[in-house]
Order: sequence, then C-alpha cells, then structure tokens
Amino acid sequence: MNAKWWQNAVIYQVYPRSYCDSDGDGIGDIPGLISKLDYIQHLGVDAIWLSPVFKSPQDDNGYDISDYQDIEPMFGSLEDMRRLFAEAGKRGIKILVDMVLNHTSDEHPWFLEAKQSRDNPKHDWYVWRDSTPDCPPNDMLSCFGGSAWQWCEECGQFYFHQYSVKQPDLNWDNPEVRQALYDMMNWWAKEGAGGFRLDVIDSIAKEPDNKVTAEGSMLHPYIREMSKSVLQGTDLVAVGECWSANPDRAKLWSNPDGSELSMVFQFEHIVLDQVGWEKWNLAPLPKVKLKEVIAKWQRELHGKGWNSLFWENHDVPRIVSRWGNDKQYREQSAKMLGIFLFGLQGTPYIFQGQELGMTNAPYELEEYRDIEIRNMAAERLAKGYTMESIMESIHAKGRDNARTPMQWNDGENAGFTTGEPWLKVNPNYVTINAEEQLDREDSVLNCYRKLIALRKSADVFFDGEYTPIWPEWEEFFAYRRSNGKETLTVIANFGEGELNVPADLFAEAGELCVSSYPDANSNVLRPYEARMYLKK
Ligand code: NOJ
Repeated sequence: MNAKWWQNAVIYQVYPRSYCDSDGDGIGDIPGLISKLDYIQHLGVDAIWLSPVFKSPQDDNGYDISDYQDIEPMFGSLEDMRRLFAEAGKRGIKILVDMVLNHTSDEHPWFLEAKQSRDNPKHDWYVWRDSTPDCPPNDMLSCFGGSAWQWCEECGQFYFHQYSVKQPDLNWDNPEVRQALYDMMNWWAKEGAGGFRLDVIDSIAKEPDNKVTAEGSMLHPYIREMSKSVLQGTDLVAVGECWSANPDRAKLWSNPDGSELSMVFQFEHIVLDQVGWEKWNLAPLPKVKLKEVIAKWQRELHGKGWNSLFWENHDVPRIVSRWGNDKQYREQSAKMLGIFLFGLQGTPYIFQGQELGMTNAPYELEEYRDIEIRNMAAERLAKGYTMESIMESIHAKGRDNARTPMQWNDGENAGFTTGEPWLKVNPNYVTINAEEQLDREDSVLNCYRKLIALRKSADVFFDGEYTPIWPEWEEFFAYRRSNGKETLTVIANFGEGELNVPADLFAEAGELCVSSYPDANSNVLRPYEARMYLKK
C-alpha cells in the first residue's frame, strides 16, 4: 500500500490568538506566526492546522465566522495569509485552514439577510421553526448551555444554534448552502491551503425535529458530495472533528478509497475521565479502559481507515496536567505521553506548547475568557453548585487551560507580546519555555523532535500491525507493531511506582531510539519512564 503524504506526516496545531503577537495588541497574529516558522520547521513537522483566522466577532474565538474569505483584522490581512502560505511552503510546511461549516456568526451577511423576513432568498440558509416567543420548538440544549433555540424578533421565528446564540446553524439541506461552502473551500485551495480541519463536521446534517444533531441520515451523502466537489483528485488533507465517531463510522469517514475525508478526530479516549457526556463531572482515569480504547481503534482501522493521534487541542486540557504529573515528574511524564502516542498508527497532532510540556492554568474565575467556562459557571452557580466544585472542574477541564499564551522565553509575558495578553500567561513560563529547551538535549522539546524524525525513519510507523503487551497490567502501557520486516516496541510506566519488566521483553526489542529518562537501561521502569525500541 502506498502512503499518502499525510499518512507519514506530523501536524502541529496553532491557536493563533495565543501563539505570537507581532503588534503589541496582546493577541497573536499571522505575522507573529510567520516569525515563528523557523521554530516550527526545526521541530520537523509537515503541516500546521491553523485555528480560524477568518473575519469574526470572536464570540467563540473565531469559530463564529462572519466572512469565510477574509481575515479578521486582529490577526492580519489576506496578504498576510498569502505570505504565510508562501513562507510555510518554502519550508516544506502545508497550512490546513480550519473550516467551520456547521454554523456561521450571526453577523455573517448570509444571516443578516436570512433573518430579515421569511421570504428573503437567504432565509432557508439557516434552520428556522415556528412557535411563540415564550415556547421554543423543543427542549434541545446548546453545547454552551441554555436552549438551542433563539427567538428572532425580525422574522418572528426561532433559529437553531448548537453553540452560542451568535452561532446560528446553517441549513445543509439547502443545496445552495452546500455549493457556496464548496466554492469557498475550492477558493482556499487555490489560494494555497494544503487542506482542511472540519469543525464539528458530524453535526452538519442536523434533524432538530427528531432531536438529532450528529450523524443525521444525510450526513454521509453530504460528505461524499463535498469530497467529490473539493477533495478528490487533489492532495488536500481533510480531518473532521467527529465527537460521534465510533470505529465503524470512522471507517466510512476515512475510507482508503478517498470517498469521504482523510481521517477524523474521535474522542473516545478524551471522555474517559468524566461521568457520561458531562465533561465538567470529573472521574478518575480508568487506565486499563484507556488501553482498551486505544487498542480497539488501532485494530479496527488497520488497513480499513486511518487514525488521528492526539492528546491535546484548544478544547481539551494539557495532557501533562491531566494524565501525567505536572509537578515532580513534569518532564518525564510529558515525554512518556509523547512517546506512547507517537508509536501508534495514524497521523500524530501536536498542539502548540505540548512540545514544551506546558501545563494547565491555575487561575481565578475572572481571569478566564472562554465563553464555555463563563456560561457553565453562571449556570452551575444558579443551580446551587459550590464555587469550589465549579473551580475544580474548570482547573481540570476548562478550555482556557490549553489556550494560555505560548511560552517562548523567560522575558516579560513569556515573549508572547509586548502588550497586555488577552489571557494571562501561565506564571510557570519562567522555567517552562522554548528558549530554555531548544538546546537542552534531554528537554521535552527535543524528545518531540526525535519522535517526529523517527516517524520518517521506518515504514513500520505507517503500516505496522498493533499488538498490546500485557494489557491487564494497570500502569504498564506497552505494545508492539510489526510489518513483517521491522518491529517497533513501546513500553511505558503510566504511573509513579516502579515496574519490574520481565527481561525477555528487552531481548526481542532491538535498538533503543528514544526514552523519557537519559539513562534507560535496566529492567525497572521508573515513574513515567517510557522507551521506544526499533528492530529492523
Ligand atoms: C469545535 C471547536 O473546536 C470549538 O473550539 C468550538 O467552540 C466549537 N466547535 C464550535 O465551533
């Protein structure tokens, strides 16, 4: 089987408002990102997934778009974006633009027209239902709290919004909507985009009358239509965000025949340390279950689809604070988590700062900026939750944990801005920063650099078949991947005790390529010790 470029790639996610600020307004921007392309190239990644920089009122930090074909001035201009494509291209790096196709901003001209009257030609571009102002069509809830229906005075109807009231859902059942979105995507491809990350793409074919959001009956037909109209016959990569994915659906989404997308983000591992679907209700991580979930996805998609591999993004907390130890063993556990992830089959994603072992942000409620955090706190306070329990949830799961400014150096504001940062810099930037790690051989950053380079060094990363090793042993996270010629062995201690590993495991393993401790040579795995071996 021939690999597609993105099957041997590593993708780095940039959350632009927190990456690098070039003009001192406290918000990261495209020229700032361009100034850091050498750093990104030095990491060795092949592509950048750039969170939205399109024109937007920023109600949800850019996931509320008011013009898909222009750039929000706080991030720069269309010219800056073109320069970014060109400068990244010179360094062999593609740019994936983040397409929010499920909804627009309520300030998008389409919506401004749509809400004017029921017979406006754009009216049917959104999802409307009749009722009286005090009686929403049904009890569906928005992901950011409150009803999913908002009364619109102008046209005297409710509109549907799965996210904030400023993010009205588009009506994908209208073919004009679909065509306008495909045309816009083709325009970005012509401009130089290397692909797309597709926001909540499994929710586009909503059926609110049946209370269906994800996986509506027309979802896959629409995706196949998009694939034909935009993706097929190109080398664009398309990764969909699919909270509803299970392995069977993921095999459709990432069918090797290219009929849908390249791959999807699935979240089965991400929801393990919570109660049901409620992310704010915390639960301990069931480690054996985590291994089962990973093994299932590795097994099921092998040869039949393609996995996205990730621990972090702008919506989930920092992995070292979540499943590692961000104090005593911060470096070891950050590296362990990277090593474990990078041996798996799929395309690895690194969220900015993950390569430094950046940690969650221990702030007061007023210091967070995220709409989801603010709405949840207000809702829970009104329901009588204690402030203590609300803060515990935010410190563990709040989205701003990952969105704090990138820590470049130990200077003012971590070198992120000369102004007032839009979200406070994590005070630990004095010790955790890129400058300190660049030339230190055993840094988290250099561990990620090694892992990225290793992915290109042997076919087994692409095609090796996954076999778990002693999956019932709770803290021992280990697997082997083999393609008949090469064998990759990854072993990790996912805890703080010592683990005695039977010696015969090492006899077969081959050469040690990377580890989370500099002197990894005994049969005992120390806290968060991980090693990757390769036998050619
Ligand atoms: C998923 C995005 O990743 C998240 O940040 C955003 O709030 C929602 N989709 C709505 O667009």
